[in-house]
Amino acid sequence: MVKVVYVEHSGARHELEGREGSTVMETAVRNNVPGIDADCGGACACATCHVYIDGAWRDRTGARTPMEESMLEFAEGVDASSRLACQVRLTAELDGLVVRLPESQH
Ligand code: FES
Repeated sequence: MVKVVYVEHSGARHELEGREGSTVMETAVRNNVPGIDADCGGACACATCHVYIDGAWRDRTGARTPMEESMLEFAEGVDASSRLACQVRLTAELDGLVVRLPESQH
């Protein structure tokens, strides 16, 4: 299992265990983390799973795909650390990953 820490905009933290091979979005939804809507179910077609990758982890989560890049244009408050959580797959190297949630997904 891969530990992922979700930090809500309010500062509330959720420390969860995700299955290797699942995504940051799936792990959040499965555990009812508030603030990740994931309207399209992980098809990279809604941008309602926007998260910010905590600084130390950005190199390890890899680069955005071109499709993810274009979907992020529909999200608010996007910055260099923004990713779509459905496009970040959990690997052993991401054990301890910290992601921050935006104030809203709209
Ligand atoms: Fe829709 Fe990630 S769940 S883009």
